[in-house]
Amino acid sequence: MRYGHFDDEHREYVITRPDTPLPWINYLGTDAYFGIISNTAGGYSCYRDARLRRLTRYRYNGVPADSGGRYLYLRDNSSGEYWSPSWQPTQGDLDSYECRHGLSYTRISSTRHGVRAETLYFVPPGETLEVWRLRVRNERGEPADLSVFSSVEFCLWDAQDDATNFQRNYSTGEVEVDGGVIYHKTEYRERRDHFAYFACSEPLAGFDTQREEFLGAYRGWDRPLVVERGESANSVARGWAPHGSHHVRFLLAPGETREVIFLLGYWENPREAKFDPPGSAVLNKALVRPVIDRWLRPETVAEGFRRLRESWSSRLSVLQVKTPDEDTNRMVNIWNPYQCMVTFAMSRSVSLFESGISRGIGFRDSCQDLLGFVQLAPDRARARILDLAATQLASGGAYHQYQPLTKTGNDAVGSGFNDDPLWLVTGVAAYLKETGDETILDEPVPYADAADVRPPLYEHLERSLRYTLDRLGPHQLPLIGRADWNDCLNLNCFSAEPGQSFQTTENVAGGSAESVFIAGLFVLAAREFAMIAERRGQISEAACYRAEAEKMAGVVAEHGWDGAWFRRAYDHSGRAVGSASDDEGQIFIEPQGMCVMSGIGLHDGTAVRALDSVRERLATRHGIVLLQPAYTRYHLELGEISSYPPGYKENGSVFCHTNPWVMIAEAMAGRGDAAFGYYKRINPSAREQISDVHRCEPYVYAQMIAGPDAPACGEAKNSWLTGTAAWNLTAITQWILGIRAELDGLRVDPVLPAAWPGFIATRRFRGATYQISVRNPDRISGRVMHLEVDGRRIEGTLVPLAPSGAIVQVEAVVG
Ligand code: BGC
Ligand code: NOJ
Repeated sequence: MRYGHFDDEHREYVITRPDTPLPWINYLGTDAYFGIISNTAGGYSCYRDARLRRLTRYRYNGVPADSGGRYLYLRDNSSGEYWSPSWQPTQGDLDSYECRHGLSYTRISSTRHGVRAETLYFVPPGETLEVWRLRVRNERGEPADLSVFSSVEFCLWDAQDDATNFQRNYSTGEVEVDGGVIYHKTEYRERRDHFAYFACSEPLAGFDTQREEFLGAYRGWDRPLVVERGESANSVARGWAPHGSHHVRFLLAPGETREVIFLLGYWENPREAKFDPPGSAVLNKALVRPVIDRWLRPETVAEGFRRLRESWSSRLSVLQVKTPDEDTNRMVNIWNPYQCMVTFAMSRSVSLFESGISRGIGFRDSCQDLLGFVQLAPDRARARILDLAATQLASGGAYHQYQPLTKTGNDAVGSGFNDDPLWLVTGVAAYLKETGDETILDEPVPYADAADVRPPLYEHLERSLRYTLDRLGPHQLPLIGRADWNDCLNLNCFSAEPGQSFQTTENVAGGSAESVFIAGLFVLAAREFAMIAERRGQISEAACYRAEAEKMAGVVAEHGWDGAWFRRAYDHSGRAVGSASDDEGQIFIEPQGMCVMSGIGLHDGTAVRALDSVRERLATRHGIVLLQPAYTRYHLELGEISSYPPGYKENGSVFCHTNPWVMIAEAMAGRGDAAFGYYKRINPSAREQISDVHRCEPYVYAQMIAGPDAPACGEAKNSWLTGTAAWNLTAITQWILGIRAELDGLRVDPVLPAAWPGFIATRRFRGATYQISVRNPDRISGRVMHLEVDGRRIEGTLVPLAPSGAIVQVEAVVG
């Protein structure tokens, strides 16, 4: 069952009924100003940091779900009837409803009793504001006397404090209303230099800034008193709950359309020019007012929207493909890169599943997000790499998370997740391959605990590898620390107290648990580093890390191989985890994917054996589950993983992030059918027809899909902010379609499903454009045997770099 359809031509998903199984959201803004918006206009906005600069309130986990947002109400003044054109919050009967989620904008339209309303929501590129452009048309045969009421609830900036310290906050709220603009200025009198504003393009019939006055006591957003009455209270908030509502009233002739523009924005004044007159407590509006006036003009809005659309067209033109598979095309060409951009921008902070409060920018998360993002905005990738490296410690370890506004490491979680630093190497390698910009390696970057030392980024990478080598356990495998990629495999934790953090509790001294996964990741990272070192002429260093990689691969072969698959880890007492000798948790997906991706076992048959075990034991029709059999009991020695009921999250769901590792591994083993088969199972577009089972948005990946051990098997959760986005884009474009940036050129080395006759693609890479055509005349699931560049046969599959501006024709034949 579906709740809408894709409109690929306009790059939109069109939702045709408002009561989707869960709110289906979109993102407005991917830079400084951003927010989420649901298909019924729920959501909230922030500036730079979802915790420390939250503009509007949102109540997660509320009942009913998704209440509070960017609401408009229409009122028919002749009958007194009112409704929400976005369905929520009044949930009235609408004669038509449609929500189009596009790239960084959402358009919700509906009709009721001959009044059509269409609202376009977006953040113009480079601005710190959002536009709501409402168009109301009278489709009746007679004039319509209508009112529009807008509504937002301001957050008192720090979302955590706002939800917990209300005894204080009930008395701090302040606003100003001036020239039709509502300014939210709580704490501006003292240490804040910023304020929010809510403006409207039309003359006002009234306004409200106190929530209680707008809603009325004991009422919710579905029955605001002011709207029911048809008259604003012109309330000015002092304390309690600052709110923004405009009232616009107009008469529409039959067929007439009226456009009303609302702006919600953020502004910072220079500290020395905060007040007007100086010394007063009145906001200085001289700097913001011209911005407001400009964006209240329809031409500015139209132009801003055009620029937004263009910026996406240009970003997406980096890679466009035409394959025989529609689900592949729309994910690769539109939605997957979009999700990568959003995930990169938000890290794990704002979604329907992430509150924006608990985590900032994750170290390993961001490093992996880079893999899917770097080609879309290399300059932002560069800046992020340098920020991340600055939260690395002199030991080579890293803060697990940092706060985006302050860029400082999160002390509550700290460090000690021993895979973290290695991902920096893979992230930087991806950046170098895409851009060729080796200057980044010379950028001086401090360590978080030694600000006076500013070694070049290159040294940070070396320290990342050293961090692993300095921490080997009894089998010479890397120590796991608090956890590796699997945050919930806490082998040094031993928590028996409810409420303790699995990730930061360490009850046993000198945790000696080891990770086969980190060993695989080390091999991968050490080989990438060797390649970088060679480029810098550090030949002996390159040789040293190649040798370390070989050595580690040998350790994996000796202690990490279980007979038919790679083991997962050794626990604190030296027992193998992920071994046939256990009754539960015998096989885990992560080391199968990671070890093969790093090249381990590709020449001695173990890689293929491990992948066969994955197919036999972990593959389901909804994707590949993380482990089997799922843990049915709590294991003190394993930690959070066994706290989840079987089939959920790390305990045996299809944890989608890991699936592309197996796709890549299958492609490396030359098995295109297997790789693509796995790709299709979790491709959200391919799951659209089971939206009632999948329940999350069909246009983006979710972190997990419940596995067969769970009663809700096939149900997705935690959509949007997940490393799944970057890794799936990597798997399909770089390994199945085989178009990979490398330091010295563009690799074209597809491993296709046998049924495909071929595909075509356009890739912009280092200033040149490559027009690639791959043919598979014998319908095999194999590799390229013949490659021509501009009509000339070349050896191998690496297309050399072309001069900037060049258009290069690449013809490949699989056979
Ligand atoms: C989740 C993990 C996540 C971790 C982050 C756990 O509860 O299951 O998926 O990585 O929290 O802190
Ligand atoms: C989600 C976290 O953001 C990520 O860092 C982690 O690797 C996975 N969960 C697996 O636990």
